[in-house]
Amino acid sequence: SQHKVYVTRPDVDDSGLELLRKSCQVSTWHETNPVPRSELIRVVAGKDALYCALTDKVDKEVLDAAGPQLKCVATISVGYDHIDVEECRKRGIRVGFTPDVLTDATAELTLALLLATNRRLFEANKQVYNGGWKSWAPMWMCGQGLKGSRVGLLGFGRIGQEIAARIVPFKPTEITYTTRSLRPKEAAAVNARHVDFDEMLRESDLIVVCCALTPETKEIFNATAFQKMKPNCILINTARGGVVDQKALYEALKTKRILAAGLDVTTPEPLPIDDPLLKLDNVVILPHIGSADIETRKEMSRITARNILAALAGDKMVAEVEL
Ligand code: GLV
Ligand code: GLV
Repeated sequence: SQHKVYVTRPDVDDSGLELLRKSCQVSTWHETNPVPRSELIRVVAGKDALYCALTDKVDKEVLDAAGPQLKCVATISVGYDHIDVEECRKRGIRVGFTPDVLTDATAELTLALLLATNRRLFEANKQVYNGGWKSWAPMWMCGQGLKGSRVGLLGFGRIGQEIAARIVPFKPTEITYTTRSLRPKEAAAVNARHVDFDEMLRESDLIVVCCALTPETKEIFNATAFQKMKPNCILINTARGGVVDQKALYEALKTKRILAAGLDVTTPEPLPIDDPLLKLDNVVILPHIGSADIETRKEMSRITARNILAALAGDKMVAEVEL
């Protein structure tokens, strides 16, 4: 009989669902808001594969509810901090994700946020609408350019490297990066220098978070870190909200300990509209749209489906999390 696959969203691109429907019995959650946890726990029972997104926490409880039939969890994302991969490993459940295909889209969005915060685009744009634009003025809405700046990257994987490559044409003084693996060849390609986290904090005019959320990086940007940063530093985060202690970030922005922040990710998501961060002028917040380029999202849908089909057939997946 056909494999049963549950898809936690009705709105992933249909090209992915079509691939699954050819050989599997596919059921999906029916609303565009995430499937409620109680519903996921109910419907996952007896499924062979789970097609999920970063909005679904796949932990021991969900895996227990699924039962021994579950062979694969595939997420339509590059991040998999929402999946308990250790529990999956113990149970022999294979985990798929969608790296590579979204690297360029995410790097582009990061550059957009970096320029937007550096040159105060959103703050300036508001002035056009609220009457704040009185006349051209020599020092009004000035920001700091990228040229001549010191840029630090926390994380130097696929996305970090592509961000670095896109920053190079803006002529920074230096690009530094902090990671566990040195990646000398990749670093040489963009003339980046490896530094420890402390040096990055102390020296950077711009810090870009492009690492995975792990126990090691969780809230690594805390009050102590913000204390070490230069007052003109701008923090960009297109990775995961959890890498930043958001209360400490609020304090750092409010007290001008740092200059500004550009965030595509927050804690929680969505950020409540009464969150104090939204009252500040020196922060630009986007609703987690890093990979939101049409072709990228379509391909992510297909890769997630192919990951499932490969796992169910016992074949090599397009992209499998090494457990
Ligand atoms: C988005 O945040 C992703 O992990 O793909
Ligand atoms: C903050 O809004 C900035 O654009 O610097």
